[in-house]
Amino acid sequence: MKADVLLGLQWGDEGKGKVVDVLTPNYDIIARFQGGPNAGHTLEFEGKKYVLRSIPSGIFQNGRVNVIGNGVVLDPILFMEEAKALEDSGIPLKKLLKISKKAHLILPTHRLLDAANEKAKGGAKIGTTGKGIGPTYTDKISRNGLRLGESLSDNFRTKYELARDKHIKQLISMGENPDVSELEKQWFDAIEYLKSFELIDSEFFINKSLKEGKSLLCEGAQGTLLDVDFGSYPFVTSSNTVTAGACTGLGLAPNRIGDVYGIFKAYCTRVGSGPFPTELFDETGKKIRDLGHEYGAVTGRERRCGWIDLVALKYAIMINGVTKLIMMKSDVLDSFDEIKACVAYEVNGERIVDFPYSIEEASIKPVYVTLPGWKTDLTKMKTEDELPTAFRNYIQFLEKELETPISIVSIGPDRTQTIIRDK
Ligand code: GDP
Ligand code: IMO
Ligand code: MG
Repeated sequence: MKADVLLGLQWGDEGKGKVVDVLTPNYDIIARFQGGPNAGHTLEFEGKKYVLRSIPSGIFQNGRVNVIGNGVVLDPILFMEEAKALEDSGIPLKKLLKISKKAHLILPTHRLLDAANEKAKGGAKIGTTGKGIGPTYTDKISRNGLRLGESLSDNFRTKYELARDKHIKQLISMGENPDVSELEKQWFDAIEYLKSFELIDSEFFINKSLKEGKSLLCEGAQGTLLDVDFGSYPFVTSSNTVTAGACTGLGLAPNRIGDVYGIFKAYCTRVGSGPFPTELFDETGKKIRDLGHEYGAVTGRERRCGWIDLVALKYAIMINGVTKLIMMKSDVLDSFDEIKACVAYEVNGERIVDFPYSIEEASIKPVYVTLPGWKTDLTKMKTEDELPTAFRNYIQFLEKELETPISIVSIGPDRTQTIIRDK
């Protein structure tokens, strides 16, 4: 069996959680491969709303195995909070969730370092989620990290203290005066809770399962434009959010990858700092934010809003090898007279269609095509036949520009507000 991948093509928050939940009945296993509690994946069904941070979005559909892969960074305290809430709501989490022993641990001092790094950057700050993501991946790459598997060894506390003391020295040199004693107690309690889960060599589990004919969906976090290599560096996250990240984050060989679902909003958003060529600072931007409830699931921050950017989307489709597109939040544009799509950038008077090395706002002017709005409430539609002509034209326009089929269209936050086009 091949493994399918679902990931974001923009700056995150495309609606990955909703669609993973919708697609889960087609799969035996759902696995997260990168990122950590910087993610906030929102699911809505049966009148309830759930936000997942580290646990895969396949957890609510009957009996699927969910895996947290080696590429993920895990905060024991936040994990315990999230997991206990699920257990309290009746999900048999310990039966359904397996966690890679190779996943790296976020220490309390990683969070403090994240904050101190941001403070030190002053006006150039990245606007991170403050969850310690950058410092934890930094320690992983510089070979100073602490992996979950270490928690099973006798000298875990010594290893922890060594890492903590290094961080504290660093924090003091940055002018901070850290006290982690209280957090540290919580952290070790949470480690004990984590140890009550099945900690596995997830690369073996994944590959053996595929060999046995089981199907796997890999769930991305963040989005392609936040990828550490291909995103708007340095205003990115610290992991590879692209398809290749599913290979390194789960131990999947590249020839095991099947379909790649690329997910995008019918417009575009970004949270945190960094360039955003199609950002709208006017009433239209505000209207998108209000109608789309564009406020962060993790930090509650206002999301910046703008028109869809096809230059960036084409780039994301290329890097990820997207085979199927999924368009989200179409309903947010229901009341617009006109909809714009950026089809090229103008840089110093020159029209370019290849996503450039730098997208600093000052030098880039988006070139727009204007399409008529559909001015129809899409939210209660059940089949493709009901979709209004102007909306179908928008879909067709995007498919032609992006040279990739749109296989799912989302018309509301609920699980049921989803139109599957390729049956
Ligand atoms: P993720 O991080 O990619 O999983 O996305 P988030 O959950 O952070 O953000 C997407 C938001 O849009 C959530 O609040 C979803 O409930 C909501 N949402 C998802 N799909 C749709 C849709 O088609 N229409 C509307 N109006 N909201 C949606
Ligand atoms: P999901 O999975 C949107 C952004 C932060 C910041 C930058 C770096 O819900 O789509 P980090 O804490 O990762 O070091 O922050 O990346 N960011 C996200 N933006 N959705 C996310 O996740 C994000 N995860 C990180 O706002 O700009
Ligand atoms: Mg999100």
